[in-house]
Formats: sequence, structure tokens, C-alpha cells
Amino acid sequence: MSSPNVPLRTLFVTSEFSGLAKAGGLAEVSAGLPLALRQRGVDVRVLMPAYPDVIARLSDITWSGRLPGRAAIPACQIGEALLPDGTFLCLIGEPSLYDRCGTPYCTPEGRDWPDNHIRFARLALAASEIARGRGVPGWRPDLVHVNDWPGGLTPAYMRWDGTDVPTVMTIHNIAYQGLCNAGQRNRLGIPDDAFRIDGVEFHGQVSFLKAGVYYATHVTTVSPTYAREITTERFGAGLHGLMQGIAEHGRLSGIINGIDESWDPGSDPYLPHHFAAEDLHGKQANADVVRTSMCLRPSKGPLFGIVSRLVHQKGLDLVAEAANNIVQQGGQIAILGLGDPEIEHMLSRTSRRHRDDIGILIGFNEPMERRIVAGSDFTLMPSRFEPCGLTQMQAQRYGALPIAHATGGLADTIDDGSTGFLFSDLTLDGLMAACSRAFDTFGNDEQLTAMRRTAMARRSGWASAAAEYETLYNRLCGRREVASPHRPPRRVARPAAVRDPEMDVAA
Ligand code: ADP
Ligand code: GLC
Repeated sequence: MSSPNVPLRTLFVTSEFSGLAKAGGLAEVSAGLPLALRQRGVDVRVLMPAYPDVIARLSDITWSGRLPGRAAIPACQIGEALLPDGTFLCLIGEPSLYDRCGTPYCTPEGRDWPDNHIRFARLALAASEIARGRGVPGWRPDLVHVNDWPGGLTPAYMRWDGTDVPTVMTIHNIAYQGLCNAGQRNRLGIPDDAFRIDGVEFHGQVSFLKAGVYYATHVTTVSPTYAREITTERFGAGLHGLMQGIAEHGRLSGIINGIDESWDPGSDPYLPHHFAAEDLHGKQANADVVRTSMCLRPSKGPLFGIVSRLVHQKGLDLVAEAANNIVQQGGQIAILGLGDPEIEHMLSRTSRRHRDDIGILIGFNEPMERRIVAGSDFTLMPSRFEPCGLTQMQAQRYGALPIAHATGGLADTIDDGSTGFLFSDLTLDGLMAACSRAFDTFGNDEQLTAMRRTAMARRSGWASAAAEYETLYNRLCGRREVASPHRPPRRVARPAAVRDPEMDVAA
């Protein structure tokens, strides 16, 4: 049991970090949660691979440690860097694994790297070694917090090496499991007796996510509704049986994410026009900027925004079906996203059919993202499933009322009829019924303003999630609630030094 008088030391293991390497919401969580925990007095260090962008964007990295390899996993260096906001990063340096162009997971053409199992086993093994006091001089965690499949082998290596430090495994998306061929298991240093159903085996393959879930002390996911959903066959992606068992043993909980404080319509530097709940004039002006930049005709009708990874999960095929109807009713749609080429083509075709009313930018960049959200009256999120979702929280803060499928975190963070519109029936009729309610609201100034104000006032920072994780960490480490290392939250946006507004622009 660690002493409650010294700050709890936590190693936060991730494959993405906002401003350094981002493929989706995990990057935002990896930047936002550790910072909020730090503000509560938790000594968090974030462990991630040193991809080329990470090295390029950090001015000062001290390479101070070295860790051995295992089986086919090469040795690596450990670097340390301190961000301007006080976040402490531990970086895994191994050029043969990470010195490549592309996203954290894929080639520039969008194909998974064939050695991803080795790349992320290196991440997990480094976490496990640091948990035993190696690699980071003078620092050893009381708890290791692992995120998604890339970190999944961490609790497993720790168990096999006899490292008795509690672990939290957070599932951000159970659909991505990190599967690899069983023939790779010796190369990953997986003991033979762990390759079974009560271990890392999943239908004849090695599953990184299952390993994490199976060996972790506690499993969390990113909303209470998704925590229930993944115990069902419909949402559990084949792991529902395991999730049910874990839930029955009280080892599964759902904690809603937060969003960064820089999402503030009154001060966001990317917005051409600032606005506030009491004075929404700037919102209309932002809509006009979006229309002009996406070559849409001037209009007084509602603007529907979509900012998303363009993947099956997000249900945007329904938007393609609904587009005609939305345009006929006087609506326009602005889309920003990147992902599956088939979905990109489908939405591009839809846009070409309605050139003046539907605009699409294939790519991703934060200034455009924020302008679209700020200018939109409504945000479309017909996700098939949504573990948490950050976009609907960002949209509410900018008064862009979400129209969303009542699933996962969408159901937990949108108050139907008050801060947005939820629909349960994931069909064209279901979506259009919700859109009709939105059109009606748009035609009623008083109701529209009231809903926007309620949505914009909704609390969605990181403080509440950080408090819940801290309580969990303390319980797992056998510590009582620490009296009050809690410092009042500082208003800190993500660090300017690692921010590049033009990063990842592909449009
Ligand atoms: P998900 O993580 O499933 O994509 P979330 O709503 O949790 O969904 O997260 C959305 C976050 O991902 C937002 O912060 C947004 O900035 C970012 N994002 C959306 N689309 C892309 C993209 N194509 N590339 C990188 N980041 C993206
Ligand atoms: C995943 C989920 C998304 C969630 C994000 C951060 O990408 O798809 O719903 O918000 O992780 O937890």
C-alpha cells in the first residue's frame, strides 16, 4: 500500500497525444486527462512512442534511459520531455519501429503497418519495465493506466513478470482489438500457457485488447451507457461474455470524457467571430464564413455540420440518404473528415449532387474543424455506436445542437429536447424525424435560443472525469481519499509550443 502523503504516481500509456500525434478522440483524452489529474496533485507521466512528428514538435527531449528487448521486440531508448503546461512525457525511441511517415497506425496510403504488433508490444513492454522501476531514473509508478489495444499487452507482461502494481485498462473503442496471427506469439514473448481462452487468445489469434481486459486490475470505458452496451452481443464485438464476467465482479466502470477548455466560443483564436450564449450574433457570421469557404450559396436556412473520422462506426451513410430531404427543406451541410475511401467517395458524390448546399473537405485541420462547429446550427452524429464522443460536447459548447443516435456517450451527454435531439431508431426515418424536430426548432427563435443557451452552459471540462479516475486509482492502490492535494483548476489550454494549426491538412 502506498502512502497517501506523497502524490500518487501514475504511468499513462497511450499511442496518441493531441498536438503531437492524432488519429481521433484518444489524442484529446491523452492530453486532457493527465493534465487535469496533475492539477489534482497526481504525479502522472504519459508514455508514448517517439514518432517523427513528436520528435520534431518537441524542442527539448532528454534521452536518459534504455530498456532491453525481448523475443523479436527490439531494445529502446527512453526520453523525457516537459510540456509548457507541466505535462511530463516519457518517449520510446526506436527508429526501426517508429521513424516512419503516416498516422500512428498506418502507412500514408492508409494501410496498417504489418509490424504493428511489434511496434505496440514495444510500447506495452516499456510500460511494464517502467512499472518495475527500470528506464525512468528515480521514478516508479504506483499504478499503470493503459489505453486501448496499443497498450493492451501491458497488464499481461506485468503479470508474467510478477510486477505487483495495479493496472487500469480503458477501452475507448472495443471494435479495435489489435489482433495478430497466433504464429507471432513467441516473437512477442507470450508464454505458451497464456495462449488460451483464459488469457490472450481470441478465436485462434492473439488479441491485445483482450489481454489488457483479462489481466488488468480494473477496466473502464468512456461512458456508463457504453459500459453496459459492451456486455451485450450487439456491441461487445465478440468480447461481451468476458465483459459480462468483469462487470459481475465489479471490475468494469464507465467514466465520461471531458473536452479541452480551449473550446470556448468567446476566445477561440481560430474563430473569425467570437460569440457567447448571451450574444449569438457572431455565430451567424461564422456560418457565413463556412459557406463562403466551402463555396455554398448564401442562405438563411440551418447549417448542419459534420466533423468526423469517415468510418462505418459514424453511420454517415444515413446522412447520404437523408441529404436530399435536408436540402429540400432549406438546410445545408458542411462536412470535414478523413478515413475510409469508400465513405469519402460516397459523401463526395452526395456533395457533387448538391454543389450549392453540401460542401465537403476531405482531410482534417483544427481551425476548419472549429469554424464548422462554431458556424453550424446543428451537428449530425448518427453513429452506429459511440463509446463517448467528444464532438457532441464540443458542438454543445458552440451552440451547434447535436442530432444524434441515442447510444453510448451520446445518450449520456445530450439532453434530448434541451441540448440536442436524440433518436433511437437508427434508420432514415429515425434520423429524419429528429431532423424535423431540429427544423421546427430553427423556425422558433425563442426555443432555438433557449436550447443553444442550455447547451452552451453544459459543463464538460475534465474536472469531473479526473476526480472519478483519481478515486478509482486511490481505491486500487489501497489509499484512502487523499485529504486535499486538489488545487483549484488552472485555466490552461493545450500548450502552444506543441501546437501546429496546419498539421494534418490533407484537403
Ligand atoms: P473518434 O475518436 O471516434 O473519432 P470523438 O468524437 O471521440 O470520435 O473524437 C473526435 C476527435 O477527433 C475530435 O477532437 C476531432 O478533432 C478529431 N477528429 C475528427 N476527425 C478526425 C480526423 N479525420 N483526423 C484526426 N482527428 C480527427
Ligand atoms: C474512441 C471513440 C470515441 C471516444 C474516443 C475517446 O475513438 O470512438 O467515442 O470519444 O475514443 O475516448
